Amino acid sequence: MAFKTIIEPFKIHSVQKIAMPDAAARQEALQRTGYNLFGLHADEVVIDLLTDSGTGAMSAAQWGAIMVGDESYAGSRSYERLRAVVEDLTGMPEVIPTHQGRASERILFSIVAGPGTVVPNNTHFDTTRANVEFQGAEARDLVIAEGRDPSADHPFKGNMDIEALEATIAEVGRNNIPLVMVTVTNNSGGGQPVSLENLRAVREACDRHDLPFFLDACRFAENAWFIKLREEGQSGRSPSEIAREMFSLADGITFSAKKDGLANIGGLLVMRDAELAAQCRNLLILTEGFPTYGGLAGRDLEAIAVGLEEVLQEGYLRYRIRSTEYLAEKCRAAGVPIVWPPGGHAVYLDAMALLPHIAQAEYPAQSLAVELYRKGGVRGVEIGSVMFGSVHDDGSEEPAAMELVRLAVPRRTYTQSHIDYVAEVVLSVAARAEELRGYRIVEQAPWLRHFTARFEPL
Ligand code: F0G
Repeated sequence: MAFKTIIEPFKIHSVQKIAMPDAAARQEALQRTGYNLFGLHADEVVIDLLTDSGTGAMSAAQWGAIMVGDESYAGSRSYERLRAVVEDLTGMPEVIPTHQGRASERILFSIVAGPGTVVPNNTHFDTTRANVEFQGAEARDLVIAEGRDPSADHPFKGNMDIEALEATIAEVGRNNIPLVMVTVTNNSGGGQPVSLENLRAVREACDRHDLPFFLDACRFAENAWFIKLREEGQSGRSPSEIAREMFSLADGITFSAKKDGLANIGGLLVMRDAELAAQCRNLLILTEGFPTYGGLAGRDLEAIAVGLEEVLQEGYLRYRIRSTEYLAEKCRAAGVPIVWPPGGHAVYLDAMALLPHIAQAEYPAQSLAVELYRKGGVRGVEIGSVMFGSVHDDGSEEPAAMELVRLAVPRRTYTQSHIDYVAEVVLSVAARAEELRGYRIVEQAPWLRHFTARFEPL
């Protein structure tokens, strides 16, 4: 096309009202929730960038498919439809539906991981880490050095450090590594992509040591689009071809359909190994449901089957990645420090750089997230020491590597003017950054504390 404006490639066909809580209501909500944005009611939020997970808009084709969902307990036609789409895309024959990504993780790791084992990943997402650690295993993050530096410009900051992977295998021994995992895109490392070249190198390392290789494929389509844009020799290929090559390198995937499944709920556990799959299905029956529905309704399986095809359309991916980049460019142009280059599904504000006067022990990213809400009703999420700091037995804390606030963009949900509003709020908070103060935690759970912790301003 001759014009450079990338428009939303859809018309809006059904709308939902946005709440407009005033400043007093927002302040009251903060006090009620103990300054934890997870405690807010949706009607207290103006623009909700808490997550891109399950918050997207489904297409008319998906809603149409929902109407023909087959709710048979066993052997549902909707399962067959989904199974065929997933097998065609991944080349993997064992397709197990689950209610969401973490259910796939729990089933997989409760079979393969245990005390004394180590699971390498570029960066574990919080539920992945928790599910590995819950089995008594170690979750080890081995992303390349650039992936830990918010401002290092690198096209594939999600790449696995292959030398570190080899060193880990040498250190703990291949028998103590149940599998190697790579998260595409690397959510906890800034939504950064992993190159095909790196995935091939992980595959080769796994082959050298006879180790299984799994992808956490939540955002596989966004990763494929970045490969098309940034990796040498890939620009002429379709996202679908690239995604298929990504999957061809792996032995299995865990997947949350709430991201690149374009659905509001659902997950998958997919693999080549029939024996491992049989073990997984036995556990699935125990906690999720019969293997042809896995805790989902037949209609959900339909929505995912259609979503998996729509998500690979070039027009969609061009718009999707550009809309995130658009917000990132506005922040960067105004001098607001962010993880650069921007990730696929979110802009990550660098609170450590923006708020150097707040020590990590006083949670600078929490302070920034609270302020974005207080000022403009924008809800993001802290990805810093509240989420990833480790608490020792004596109560002391080790801070996280980075202090980020993630502004995750739901798929096909907000328009450009919503994003312009978000940018305005971010810029106005950043302009008076020196006035922000830290927080202390007054109540917390033993794991995944960020969901329920209560804070007090300092
Ligand atoms: N892996 C990654 C990389 C994720 O981003 C998520 C979820 C999961 C696994 C777990 O999937 O939620 O379906 O159980 N991420 C959401 C987020 C929650 O906000 O980033 P789930």
